[in-house]
Amino acid sequence: MQNFNYQNTTKIHFGEGQIKAIAESTPKTAKILVTYGGGSIKKNGVYEQVAQALSEHTWFEFAGIEPNPNYDTLMKAQALIREHNIDFLLAVGGGSVVDGTKFIAAAALFQGEDPWDLVAKQIPIEKALPMGCVLTLPATGSETNTAAVVTRAGNKLPFHSERVRPVFAVLDPAVTLSLSDRQIGNGVVDAFVHTMEQYLTYSVNAKVQDRFAEGLLQTLIEEGPKALAAESKNNLEVRANIMWAATMALNGLIGVGVPQDWATHMIGHELTAAHGLDHARTLSIVLPALMKVCTDTKREKLLQYGERVWKITEGDEHTRIQRAIALTEAFFASMQMPTRLSHVEVGEQAIDGLIEKLTQHGMVSLGEHGKITPPVSRDILLAAL
Ligand code: NZQ
Ligand code: ZN
Repeated sequence: MQNFNYQNTTKIHFGEGQIKAIAESTPKTAKILVTYGGGSIKKNGVYEQVAQALSEHTWFEFAGIEPNPNYDTLMKAQALIREHNIDFLLAVGGGSVVDGTKFIAAAALFQGEDPWDLVAKQIPIEKALPMGCVLTLPATGSETNTAAVVTRAGNKLPFHSERVRPVFAVLDPAVTLSLSDRQIGNGVVDAFVHTMEQYLTYSVNAKVQDRFAEGLLQTLIEEGPKALAAESKNNLEVRANIMWAATMALNGLIGVGVPQDWATHMIGHELTAAHGLDHARTLSIVLPALMKVCTDTKREKLLQYGERVWKITEGDEHTRIQRAIALTEAFFASMQMPTRLSHVEVGEQAIDGLIEKLTQHGMVSLGEHGKITPPVSRDILLAAL
């Protein structure tokens, strides 16, 4: 196992009815800006619960943070922050609202000229407004982590900072009952691929991390399809297990002391930026192709994954690895996700542009060995056609 430092300071309020906990977790004297997306929270009662919980606080609101949050939208919040002396942000929504709010928090206290530099030039974030969140879509792990992904003019790029980690996160599985099947599939597969990015690399004898990761993968494989099946889709225990698995998949814990990949995500971000695909729908297409192209460098972990997660014990190594990849694809398909570029009408002619963007964004030595160069990314996209 490699050395590591680990701390996750986000206080979690988990379970039905926990939205009221924001009353205690948010400073009484704070001037709060509640941020949200396109209005799902007004239809499913979450907005009312938040308003009720904040009835003794001073708060304002900023709506309209779109999926794959856009820089121009996020910058509009800055005027409100200045006008009302906002000193606390409360994100209410999915990963896009939480990520967008992280950017708003950092941009509000940025001393330089262009806050986009925080993303494009990866300028370290020295200060940010504190924020909490009420998560409505289990998927990204953004609710307790230090990452965010923001888009500007066709460039979808991540940034990381301890300064934007939420102070608290409310995880109420009941609020996920209003999700569409599409968003449920997206969330389960995003969490699954987050786990794989930190697990499917090479072994460093990190037994705890490996077995935690395998437990998360098995949980998502067991519970994911239940959240789509008519007879179990409203089962709160199913939703609770999915929600906690998604948080655990990207709160940093399974990634400590182990090599990490993230090539699927970086290639996927270009697909979203260029073709508007939902984040998770890029992952369900890219990951199986990456598993095929990187079989040699991931051989040991692919066999372990096949045996421990899918109980594949028969056949030679090649057969077992092919079976593990096929079962992964079948799982994605059972979550109603595309697994080929052709499923989303992206053809071979799009690949040059995607490779150009990856190169432009410096994504030229991806993966746990840094060996996924643009030609290898091209092979992965070709394998995904
Ligand atoms: O905008 P509203 O009206 O709220 O509707 C949203 C949105 O249209 C809707 N929704 C959310 N909760 C709902 C609901 N609809 C009904 N009931 C509910 N309870 O779902 C739609 C999608 O929401 P979005 O926030 O975009 O989805 P998700 O949580 O999958 O977030 C995706 C974003 O997170 C980034 C992605 O790149 C993408 O931009 N990621 C962030 C990461 C991180 N911070 O660590 C890691 C991830 O890998 C990912 O890259
Ligand atoms: Zn993701």
